[in-house]
Order: sequence, then structure tokens, then C-alpha cells
Amino acid sequence: MSEVLQGVRSESAENVSPQTEEQHGPRVALDADAVRAAYRRWAGVYDTVFGSVSTFGRKRAVAAVNRLPGSRVLEVGVGTGLALPHYTAGKRITGIDLSSDMLARARERVRRDHLSNVDALLEMDAEDTRFADGSFDIAVAMFVASVVPHPRKLLTELKRVVRPGGYILFVNHFLAPNGVRGAIERGMARASHSLGWHPDFAMEALLPPEDLVRAKIEPVPPAGLFTLVTLERDAVPVSQEKVA
Ligand SMILES: C[S@@+](CC[C@H](N)C(=O)[O-])C[C@H]1O[C@@H](n2cnc3c(N)ncnc32)[C@H](O)[C@@H]1O
Repeated sequence: MSEVLQGVRSESAENVSPQTEEQHGPRVALDADAVRAAYRRWAGVYDTVFGSVSTFGRKRAVAAVNRLPGSRVLEVGVGTGLALPHYTAGKRITGIDLSSDMLARARERVRRDHLSNVDALLEMDAEDTRFADGSFDIAVAMFVASVVPHPRKLLTELKRVVRPGGYILFVNHFLAPNGVRGAIERGMARASHSLGWHPDFAMEALLPPEDLVRAKIEPVPPAGLFTLVTLERDAVPVSQEKVA
């Protein structure tokens, strides 16, 4: 664990277009304090209320992680740790989350279920972590991309901490482009602050066009409500991309 925490960064992630979120629907900004407050309320009932409906998506994402090469896995927005028991023993997991209330439940799960492949559970902002470049083979964010204040900043940070040739996975609910479901989701967006996530979250708010075309995008049951996105971390380190 110590090696992934070395090299504390002094600068924030770059390459974030301030227009990105405005361009893709009426997202109400959820800042870090709003996220902490929302998940303080959710922590006690999260597994009961949200755990079962999201099970398929979570298991599908972890199964995909388990099939990928490399052992060092970063799970961002680990929450109450619902995914942790599903990783194979060969994967070493570091989980991070903004919410100490959610993390407390994840730590209890690790203790109760004797999850010896969980190396650390840390209170940390996934948009601006303290990990050195290339610390992980795989990063996975389950139902997190629509919660963080700046999804593109999250993506940039995950590209930084995953080694070139590694993988970044998201499983999330994304806005239906049109139809009744899309209209309902846009209507629900007004409740973003109390829900703690954005029902009107468009995939384009997370992935820039160049990643959108190369990402593997798979609908997940039930009824394709969730989508698994797998992105290979390209071979060019982020620092060189910025110079180019
Ligand atoms: C919907 S829950 C998902 C929890 C878990 N991944 C799961 O599958 O059940 C979203 C989690 O993301 C966390 N979160 C939101 N913004 C974050 C950020 N910027 N950095 C780290 N965690 C964050 C929240 O505290 C919450 O625990």
C-alpha cells in the first residue's frame, strides 16, 4: 500500500473542459460537501435500498475486472463495500471514498468477511487522489461517475493513476437519449441533491468523443438500466499527452 501512496501530487488533474457538463443536460452541481451529506443520510439504508437493484451491474463489473490482467485494483467510490467480496483472491484492492460514513460500513464488511485481499480503504477524493502515476493496473467506478462533481476530472485522474495499457471501468446508469424514460430522468434531476446522484447523467459528460468511440459499451440487466463501460488506458502517459 505504501508504494501507491508515495509521490503525493501537488497539482490537480487537467484537461477538464468547464463546458462539458453544461453541454449535456441540466446537471445540478453536487460538490464534495453535498456528496458527504447525502451519503451520511444514505449509509445506514444504502445496502437495503440500492444494494439489490444494482447487484447485476456490480457483479458484472467485478467479473470483468477479475478477467483482466494485473492485480492492483483501485475501486473508487467503494461505498459500503458491496463489491469487495466478489473480487478473486488474486486481485489486491484499494478502495477510496469521500464519505467516512460509507467507508465505516466497508471496513466493517472487510473485518466481518475476512477479506484479506483488501489492502486499504481510504477517505480520498477520486477526482484528486494522492496516488503516484501508474499505481494501478485497473480502476473501477461503480455507480460513482454520476455522483462526482466533475466526471471528466475523475476520468483524467483515473488515467493518471492507471498504468499505460491498464483498464478503467465504469458501471452506471446513463441518461436515456429520448423517450419517456429520458423525460422522467430529466424531471428527477431536480432531486439530485437529496438523491446524491444525477438521474440525467449523459455518457458524453464522462467520456470525450475520442474515448467514446473506442470504449467497449455493454448494457447490463435488468432491462439495460445500467451500462458497463471498459476503456483501455492508452500507451501514452498522461503527462506526455499534455505536452503534445
Ligand atoms: C451510489 S454510491 C456507490 C457505492 C458503491 N460503488 C456501490 O457499488 O454500491 C456512490 C459512492 O461514491 C462516493 N463518492 C462520490 N463522490 C466521490 C468522490 N469525488 N471521491 C470518492 N468517492 C466519491 C459516495 O460517497 C458514495 O459512497
